[in-house]
Order: sequence, then structure tokens, then C-alpha cells
Amino acid sequence: MAKSPDHLKSTASLPKVVRAKGSYLWDAEGRQYIDGSGGPAVYCLGHANEEVNAAVMAQLGAIAHGYRYNFTTDALEELTEIIRGHCGGTLREMVYVTGGSEAVESCLKIALQYQTAIGQKGRRRFISRQRSWHGNTLGALGVSGFEERTRAYEGAFIPSIKLSPANDYRPIAGEGDLGERCAAELEAAILAAGPETIAAFIFEPVVGAAGGCVPAPKGYTRRVREICDRHGVLMIADEVMCGAGRTGTWRALEHDGVEPDLMSVAKGLAAGYLPLGAAICTSRVWEAIRAADGAFGTGHTFTGHTAACAAGVAVQKIVAREGLLARVATNGPRLIADWRSALDGLDAVGDIRGRGHFICAELVANRDTKEPFPADRRLFIKVRAQAMANGLICYPVGGNVDGARGDIVILAPPYNATEAELEEIIDKAARSIRQVLQAEGLA
Ligand SMILES: Cc1ncc(COP(=O)(O)O)c(C=O)c1O
Repeated sequence: MAKSPDHLKSTASLPKVVRAKGSYLWDAEGRQYIDGSGGPAVYCLGHANEEVNAAVMAQLGAIAHGYRYNFTTDALEELTEIIRGHCGGTLREMVYVTGGSEAVESCLKIALQYQTAIGQKGRRRFISRQRSWHGNTLGALGVSGFEERTRAYEGAFIPSIKLSPANDYRPIAGEGDLGERCAAELEAAILAAGPETIAAFIFEPVVGAAGGCVPAPKGYTRRVREICDRHGVLMIADEVMCGAGRTGTWRALEHDGVEPDLMSVAKGLAAGYLPLGAAICTSRVWEAIRAADGAFGTGHTFTGHTAACAAGVAVQKIVAREGLLARVATNGPRLIADWRSALDGLDAVGDIRGRGHFICAELVANRDTKEPFPADRRLFIKVRAQAMANGLICYPVGGNVDGARGDIVILAPPYNATEAELEEIIDKAARSIRQVLQAEGLA
């Protein structure tokens, strides 16, 4: 029988979490864990923040949910202004949802609605990349390049055209500037399919789980912007994982000086206090939709859920008041340096990369050839278990090289983790990796 994919594993053997505070969690046996990855890069303010909890409780006491077709609310309006301020530029309109997949799904639908609105109804196809993760709903899954997670559903997707990953550590074949070559691959794909058939290109500005904190090669996203403009293709930045400040700027793409047409955001928006995401678009996209249809066609019962928006407002106020974006940006290079020295001497550590509070170590069998370990060694699973035994939550993922092979360990600490906590996270993560490699005879 085929092995069940990691994400389908039973939860029967997991410890039961009962309590958390700040960067720490405790299970029912009284064991303490430090949250080195904010779960899957979500809990950017740590756990049980009293100010966020109080804001949510106050909102629940007043009204939990003002349904979008009947009411607007203070929380929704305030959060909208906060997001506009964070995004800057013309990213001003948004549809709220309950998480990352819905945010991506909404971006895809808004792109289609826009193309229809401007008389380009032939543009129904999407381009995306291999080694990308956009979510678990059918649309988001269809544009994802993550074989372990998509395999069971192949044949039922709106198939996207999949480009090579854009990754400095594992560059595509060829000579010359990598950003330029990856962008040229996008343009070639648009031309091959016929620009009049392509609605949008979707990508992660810093690839998360499917690649391991992979920043875009230099110059890549600016060239993508030009190519999309030239061919009437919308540019969708999936910032569900890398956005909301995780990489040191509120929008990850801000780092490259690029404004997308659409952007998805979720995890860090309300920091896991309540489920919340948003699909955000530029005024240009919105104006075309408004002129044709008067409103976004996409949305759900819980769109703009009031208590979730109140959580988002409280989280974003703390992020701004405590200067956490600047802190994350400043910490980034130091975290990478500390991570590098903590893993020093381990031949199996092929690359260390990332930005802000979003860093990763990639394990390889051969540093020169970058050959990954065989998938059945399941190193990432072993690192996860060892880290838990050492009292650390980190985020190891498999398959980053070809969908089956590849082992990465992601760290995504809370933005407000103390210096001592950051040290403890790096130290425990490095120790866990070292222990696993030693037990496997690899160090
Ligand atoms: C880049 C990216 N997009 C979309 C998603 C899907 O988000 P969710 O799991 O909240 O549906 C994820 C989740 O990890 C993600 O990392």
C-alpha cells in the first residue's frame, strides 16, 4: 500500500495542547514547547495576547457577526483602513475571507471577473509555478505545484500552466541572470498559450512550505511586472505565508518595489486569534469590476466576520505600535547568521536562506551536487519529532526538490519573541537537526 502523505497523517498520536502564553505552549502532560514557527507561520504575536483577546471579547459582547449583505461594522471599516495604510499605493479594495485558500480562490475569481468586465472573457487560464503552495480548495490546489498534496485530485482541476521554480539555490538550466531567465520563461509561456487566453500569473514572492523560504531571484519580480503589463495578464502575489510583516515589510513584494494587481493575505493578519484572510486588489481592477458589475462577485457567509476583523485590528495595532515590522527586518540577517553558525560543520546542511522571521535550512545528501536525501528516509518527519521531544515547534516539510524528495526546516518565530526566546529557538532547532543527522549516521 502507498504511504499516506504527511498531511493526511492521523492526529491520534499527537500531544494534546491545553495552554499557551507568548512564545510557549504546554500539553496535557505538562510538557513545555517553544513556538519556533508560529505553527505554520501564523502566530506572529505569540499566544494568549491579552490585548487581542480583550478586543475579541468586547466585539463578541457587542455583536459577533454583522452579515455583509445587511451591515457594515466599525471593525471591518477600521481594518480596511489599516490594510490600505500598510499596502500603500493603489491596493485599496478587498474581500475578507476566513483563511489562505479562500483568499487565493477569491484572487483567482476576481481576476476572472476583471477580465470579463473589460471584455476579455477569453482569458480563463492561469500560470503558476512548480514548487508552490496556494491552498487546499480546488482552485487554489489546481494552481499549486506540490505533488504530494495535489496527486489525489489530478484531472479535476482548472489546470494551470506550471513554470519552473525561481530559486537561486536550485537555478534553472542556462547561462546569465537568473531573474531574467525565469521571467523570460513566463513570457514564453504566455506567448505559447496565446496572451488572449491568460487571466493571471500567481506566485509566492517568498515561497513558503513548498520551497522553504525562497526569496525571488534579484530583478525577477520587476521583470514579471513588466511582462504581465505587456500582455494584459494580472499579477497575483500570494502573500498568505510571507505577507503581513513576516519578512520585515508588511507586503513581501514591497521589498522588491513591486505592486501586484491582486494579493492574498491571511495567516499573520489576525495572527491565529480568529480565522481571517483577505483578497486585495488595486483601484484599477476594482474600478473595472465596479463599472461592469457594481460589486465583487465572490464572498461567503463569513466574509468580513466582525469578531475576526476585530482580532485583525487589534493584532495590526500592536504590530504598528511596537514597531514589529522594523524589528523583524532588523532581526532577519542576524537570525540567518546565528542559524548558520548553530548548524556549522554539518555537511548535510546545503543551504540556509530566508528573510525576516522566515528562515529555512535545506538538507542535502551531497553539498556539491545538491542531491536531496531519498524520500523514504523521511528526514523532515524525524526532525519534527526530535524537535517536539526537545520542546520546540518548528516547521519541517518534505518534497521541496521534486515533490517527493527534499527536506527543509522552516523557522518563523513570533515577531515579538524576546532575544532569549529567539536564541532558544535557533539552539533547539539546530540541536534537533544535529541529533537526527547523528542518529542517521549522517554527521
Ligand atoms: C502561500 C500560501 N497560500 C495559501 C495557503 C492556504 O492557506 P490556508 O491553509 O489558510 O487555507 C497557504 C497555507 O499554508 C500558503 O502558505
